[in-house]
Amino acid sequence: MQRTVLLTGASRGIGRSIARQLLIDGHRLSLGLRDPEALRGTDLDVEDVAHYPYDAREPASAEAWVEGTLRQWGGIDTLIHCAGLLHRTPLLFADGEEHELDDLWTINVKGPWWLTRAAWPSLVSSGHGRIQVLVSMSGKRVKGRMAGYPVSKFALMGLCQSMRNEGWDQGIRVTAICPSWVNTDMARAVTAVEPAAMTQPSDLASLSCSLLSLPNASVPFELAMNCSLET
Ligand SMILES: NC(=O)c1ccc[n+]([C@@H]2O[C@H](COP(=O)([O-])OP(=O)(O)OC[C@H]3O[C@@H](n4cnc5c(N)ncnc54)[C@H](OP(=O)(O)O)[C@@H]3O)[C@@H](O)[C@H]2O)c1
Repeated sequence: MQRTVLLTGASRGIGRSIARQLLIDGHRLSLGLRDPEALRGTDLDVEDVAHYPYDAREPASAEAWVEGTLRQWGGIDTLIHCAGLLHRTPLLFADGEEHELDDLWTINVKGPWWLTRAAWPSLVSSGHGRIQVLVSMSGKRVKGRMAGYPVSKFALMGLCQSMRNEGWDQGIRVTAICPSWVNTDMARAVTAVEPAAMTQPSDLASLSCSLLSLPNASVPFELAMNCSLET
């Protein structure tokens, strides 16, 4: 079944890989980008892919993006949240660093919340809505001294559970995707793990796309994966 997918974070990293695989699988995409020109002339600049301005900090951009997509294609049945931010903010953050906590809350939690709220009526009316959220293993356990990022991801996991409860009877199924290190700009900036040893974005893209072919009774709520053993 061809789906109409709203996807954040497609400019790079995991979102970009998922967008490519969705297109190969024959879906129709609406990408929300801070710079809607960023993908001009790339493999994501083709007929079945629309590019809209979207900034997770601006709820009005989420609403305008949803409205534009509905005008263009008449419906939305799938929402994939890949946009996200990592700050290393520790528990004992320095004076003046608290703005990082606001950034993490705004982009990692409120952004997906607003966008889900805007797309909700369309997901419901499709009768087979799907929401995938790039959470993280950091939404399940806290490792080391990073505090702000995992706290935002635990909150995002709570948001996933709320979406699931709210949407279940209307045919909406939610999956929280929880990898550890994935070979993208985000991970390469903060860990010494070899890129080749990390989970690859293309593997997440395969998983994400195969989830979309599952019927309502078989969609997993959570997909957790590690690229190395945690004891
Ligand atoms: N990489 C990992 O190891 C890893 C592991 C677990 C979970 N995750 C999660 O997976 C998701 C994708 O991560 P990634 O590794 O692909 O990250 P990435 O390569 O750093 O890409 C981040 C994406 O988020 C977008 N973004 C950032 N701030 C935004 C904003 N205010 N409004 C709209 N878009 C914004 C970026 O757009 P611009 O190009 O405009 O900046 C970019 O497309 C994130 O939620 C991340 O927390 C990543």
